[in-house]
Amino acid sequence: MPDEPADLSQQSIDRVVADALAAFAAAGTGAELKAARLAHSGEKSPLALANRAIGTLPGPERKDAGQRLGAARAGVQAALAAREAEIGAAELQQRLADERIDVTLPVELAPVGAPHPITALMELMEDVFVTMGWEIAEGPEAEGEWLNFDALNIGPDHPARGTTDTLFVAPVENHIVLRTHTSPVQIRTLLDRELPIYVVCPGKVYRADEFDATHVPVFHQIEGLCVDKGISLANLKGTLDHLARSMFGDDIETRMRPHYFPFTEPSAEVDLKCFVCHGESVGNPDRPCRTCKSQGWIEWGGCGVVNPRVLAACGIDTDVYSGFAFGMGIERTLMFRNNAADMRDMVEGDVRFSRSLKGMAR
Ligand code: DAH
Repeated sequence: MPDEPADLSQQSIDRVVADALAAFAAAGTGAELKAARLAHSGEKSPLALANRAIGTLPGPERKDAGQRLGAARAGVQAALAAREAEIGAAELQQRLADERIDVTLPVELAPVGAPHPITALMELMEDVFVTMGWEIAEGPEAEGEWLNFDALNIGPDHPARGTTDTLFVAPVENHIVLRTHTSPVQIRTLLDRELPIYVVCPGKVYRADEFDATHVPVFHQIEGLCVDKGISLANLKGTLDHLARSMFGDDIETRMRPHYFPFTEPSAEVDLKCFVCHGESVGNPDRPCRTCKSQGWIEWGGCGVVNPRVLAACGIDTDVYSGFAFGMGIERTLMFRNNAADMRDMVEGDVRFSRSLKGMAR
């Protein structure tokens, strides 16, 4: 309060000085010390006000008060300067530590990408078969309708052939479709290659499907075909189990569930034990599992013993030769293997998704 006569008693000055020293000591940063300086030695501080009040004192008192106040202000200034030096040094040390650059580290000359996880996984699956002596086969994505369907014993009235499921390349009279599965490569292989046949064909397939967390209209499959003397369902089971263990580890459990495909007889779907609930949700309403819909198993792909009609149509003697075939979804494999729950991540091309799965190949 400016109008009140300032208290220039030694006791009062000592208290003001003690407050100032305590505030400087308590300040931990340059900003805090600045605030303490303004409060305790700035223009409006008690010491400054006291200094101004000296002029109003009568002569003899003025000299005495001036000396005492001068000593007090000098002490406060010295304490302030000392604390400033301390904090400044500490802050400098901190900055030097924070901003240290290790000039011996290798520099990244250009941002490094990562192979797309689908590509990496396809190569990994190919490797499993190449290691066993199988070959890689390829076929076109725009495929003859006959190879995609008829040659695989999928007749003209089969529901999958409707334009709601299959994408036709215009004009429809040309009978070219975007292949709906990699199975037509089986026919190309049977027509082109010498027996025995051991091939896998990874590639893109197309269906007029929704685009959501579990469906994409363009996805990937790996097809397998083996035709040799004395091939049976047992060889199929052993091959698929080997693939499953290579993909998911030795603990993976698989099962073959009877199914129907026109080009294999008998046919089955291959299921994997649910990687989320491990089957514990089955018959257990308290612990439902969204991933397997409480079935305990998740479909991985289709397979079977090649229908002799398919072999015969390709000129193969079915008394001597038999075979098995299978087709797996790569996206599904990635979902199980790397817990990639949303298929949309696989098409959006965000390099962070690819980087997060970078270590998975090899
Ligand atoms: N082509 C089938 C599909 O896309 C999957 C399939 C089933 C492939 C049985 C096969 C097989 O080779 O034998 O649904």
